[in-house]
Amino acid sequence: MSAMAVTEYPMVQVTVNVNGSPRTIVVEPRTTLADALRGGCGLTGTRVGCDEGVCGSCTVLVDGEPVRACMMFAAQAHGASVRTIESVDDDGMLHPLQKAFWDHHAVGCGFCTPGLIMLALGALERDPDLSEEALTEILSANQCRCNGYLGLVKAVKAAQVEMKIKAGAPR
Ligand code: FES
Repeated sequence: MSAMAVTEYPMVQVTVNVNGSPRTIVVEPRTTLADALRGGCGLTGTRVGCDEGVCGSCTVLVDGEPVRACMMFAAQAHGASVRTIESVDDDGMLHPLQKAFWDHHAVGCGFCTPGLIMLALGALERDPDLSEEALTEILSANQCRCNGYLGLVKAVKAAQVEMKIKAGAPR
């Protein structure tokens, strides 16, 4: 029986701005952004649930857009700005989304929470005036298996108001 040939690909160097700091990491071409963030950058707040683009737990912001980090190669993020849950707090103070998730009991086991917060953050930064219907639709993209969605929508709506106050915008 002959041994199967294993094709080895050269490692790739990826430079990406992560949470405001430039990072250069060397990864296999097949390394996902989620694995690069967790393993290469030590940012384990990005959770990997399904690893196939379904659950949304791995959501991060890439150039401001919510992206499923398990479905993007790290090499594809070369030159981009990536934000993870570790960047969300404000000098140790909870971000309005984090506080609202706490206040409105929108956290069950917490596994999906970072992805949900990044999804909501990306959506509200792009459009601070999203309707409840639009927010509900957006949040439905990520799976929460233990807590239901009513608290989530309540929390994000409350955070929306707080974010507008912080930004000095009319409510
Ligand atoms: Fe990426 Fe589920 S872990 S979508």
